[in-house]
Amino acid sequence: MESNQVVLITGANSGFGLACAKALAERGFRVYGTYRNPRKAGPLRDLAAGLPVFPVLMDVNRTASVEKGVGRVLKREGKIDVLLNNAGFVVAGFWEDLSEEDTLAQFETNVFGVLRLARAVLPSMRKRGSGKIINIGSIAAFAATPVLGAYSATKSAVNSITEALRMETREWGVDVTEINPGEIQTNVVENTRLGRDVRSKSSPYRAFTESFERFAQERFRHAAPVGKLVQTVLKAVGDHPTKRRYLVKFEDRILYWMRWLMPDAVWEWALGLTFPWSKRV
Ligand SMILES: NC(=O)c1ccc[n+]([C@@H]2O[C@H](COP(=O)([O-])OP(=O)(O)OC[C@H]3O[C@@H](n4cnc5c(N)ncnc54)[C@H](OP(=O)(O)O)[C@@H]3O)[C@@H](O)[C@H]2O)c1
Repeated sequence: MESNQVVLITGANSGFGLACAKALAERGFRVYGTYRNPRKAGPLRDLAAGLPVFPVLMDVNRTASVEKGVGRVLKREGKIDVLLNNAGFVVAGFWEDLSEEDTLAQFETNVFGVLRLARAVLPSMRKRGSGKIINIGSIAAFAATPVLGAYSATKSAVNSITEALRMETREWGVDVTEINPGEIQTNVVENTRLGRDVRSKSSPYRAFTESFERFAQERFRHAAPVGKLVQTVLKAVGDHPTKRRYLVKFEDRILYWMRWLMPDAVWEWALGLTFPWSKRV
């Protein structure tokens, strides 16, 4: 792996972003890691004290903030070799319990945030005839479940964006790929935003959402450590060219292939056995 390459990671003050910033900086990359809330930037600043990590203030929901942050990196380094489009979060709730604002907020960050960053870095990558964009998708892109429908919808959108962008930019020497992790231990559960009516006493789905919450918390307690994801990111950064997509864990591969191979009715029946959302619970 070449050192002295410049990597921009969004959402680098926590979870995947923070772990990848550390791993890449330890391997000689110059890592620009974004944070949006100075009060939550402590872990990133700590990392920056001993490694070539440079914190950048950026809210991926705001075009001006994205352009300013990317502009700063380009002014200082003259290039961005790799963009790791990582910032994202989960809105949880049955669709009927989500307000329009909930859904818009979910798409604003997870989809439009990814596009804002791509638009901001592509002109310089095309001019240089090289660059790589790695989008952090999710296995949820291929397997929607109740409660996480909005999140799955955003990650399906990221999947389509990646597919098209990969073909669109190849001629200019820009490589675009996606990583689709399943559950991995980060702050994603703590940072999950509940839909407006999820806790409402009048919600017909309340009991099911709560049982799903308990189920998800339990699953995440036993989820794989973040190192699994870091290994996959390192592989994607080092591959020339990249694969079309990277799956992270053995269970993710099983799920991915089961979804492709199973007829829809069988898939729904199998999910119903695993996920506690129906009136049976
Ligand atoms: N953990 C998993 O099991 C899993 C599985 C599949 C995919 N993913 C995806 O992996 C990515 C990273 O998640 P994570 O698990 O590492 O969760 P995390 O620990 O909650 O980290 C999410 C990061 O995104 C940042 N972020 C959220 N909204 C932002 C915005 N508008 N502007 C800038 N930064 C923003 C957060 O900043 P704040 O700290 O300020 O909120 C945080 O730094 C997400 O795209 C997530 O969907 C995670």
